[in-house]
Amino acid sequence: MGERNLGAAVIGLKMGSGHLRGYASNPKTTVVAICDPDKDLLERRREEYGPRMAVTDYRELLNEPDIHIVSVASPDYFHAEQCVSFLKAGKDVLCEKPLTLGLEEALGIVQAVRETGRRFMVGQVCRYAPGFALAKRLVDRGEIGDLYLVESEYAHSYREARGAGDWRVDPRREPFIGGGCHAVDLLRWVAGDPVEAFAYANHKCLTDWPMNDCTMAVYRFPNEVIGKVMVSVGCVRPYTMRSVFYGTEGTIVCDNQSSSIQMCSRKNFGSEPSFADFPVEIAHHNVTAEIAEFVECISGDKPIPTNELEGARTVAACLAAVESARSGKPERVARIESV
Ligand SMILES: NC(=O)c1ccc[n+]([C@@H]2O[C@H](COP(=O)([O-])OP(=O)(O)OC[C@H]3O[C@@H](n4cnc5c(N)ncnc54)[C@H](O)[C@@H]3O)[C@@H](O)[C@H]2O)c1
Repeated sequence: MGERNLGAAVIGLKMGSGHLRGYASNPKTTVVAICDPDKDLLERRREEYGPRMAVTDYRELLNEPDIHIVSVASPDYFHAEQCVSFLKAGKDVLCEKPLTLGLEEALGIVQAVRETGRRFMVGQVCRYAPGFALAKRLVDRGEIGDLYLVESEYAHSYREARGAGDWRVDPRREPFIGGGCHAVDLLRWVAGDPVEAFAYANHKCLTDWPMNDCTMAVYRFPNEVIGKVMVSVGCVRPYTMRSVFYGTEGTIVCDNQSSSIQMCSRKNFGSEPSFADFPVEIAHHNVTAEIAEFVECISGDKPIPTNELEGARTVAACLAAVESARSGKPERVARIESV
């Protein structure tokens, strides 16, 4: 179908610019509205994408009948209110990660999706990074046998990424949830829902920020799989999400920045273990692919892989680690039931 029959609106136009590109390049969608309180940015994006409406307050868009899909890409604190408002106004919503910073707000979104019957996706975009997607396929195909250990790190310096108006510099915005949700979601995708977390955290890099900047968490996953997630947002190094999946028959090393992933499996080495390279495209924030899938799910009435429950479960897994770093004890991950 080549017809552009779905109208899209994007709220928050920095990360949201990736969403605008995704809708503008999708044959089934048209950008009809944009929203950002920054008037200069709003004007620049209006000139670039030519939407029918450009507003500074999202509420002006709630009753517009030609808006079918809304991307919420505003700072995390606004996700719950904006998502619930658009769902109740009858729109399908794609919300940037993290779904929310707390569980109550996440459950509010889950309930709003249930009540309205609208379609919802959370932007856990790492599932669309070609390297991670290939790693997941290899694990699912049994290429490395039975998983026993999974690890992922989110090492991303926030020194120059305080956010518009410094919104990231806020004790509510735990880096383990805000950015670490990428690594936690990746492990959940590959290994299932963790049941318990134990974590240590420290605060030695971003000393003028009000929260810990490094956390190391160990998770207990189903089937006795152990998981490790490291999050450092004060690190001095290029961004990486290096991840390793260990199975009884092999090991996969991958990230979202490199042009290949590596697998060592009993099948592919002779006398000495060695890694084989599998080339992949580099597309670490593949929002265009994420939007393409959302649009396909909406127009083909298919289930959405990263739905509101997935978003809430990732928030719950992150919160257990944050709580453990505070309490000094292992903490259970809250279970989020499907219905
Ligand atoms: N998927 C990813 O890898 C990824 C990467 C970066 C950011 N994000 C997420 O995207 C969201 C935005 O992050 P960012 O990096 O663009 O932050 P940013 O600070 O660079 O930009 C935020 C934008 O939102 C606007 N804004 C502020 N309050 C608003 C409101 N009430 N309504 C609408 N717009 C508002 C600001 O004016 C600014 O233009 C966050 O939830 C963040 O976690 C995701």
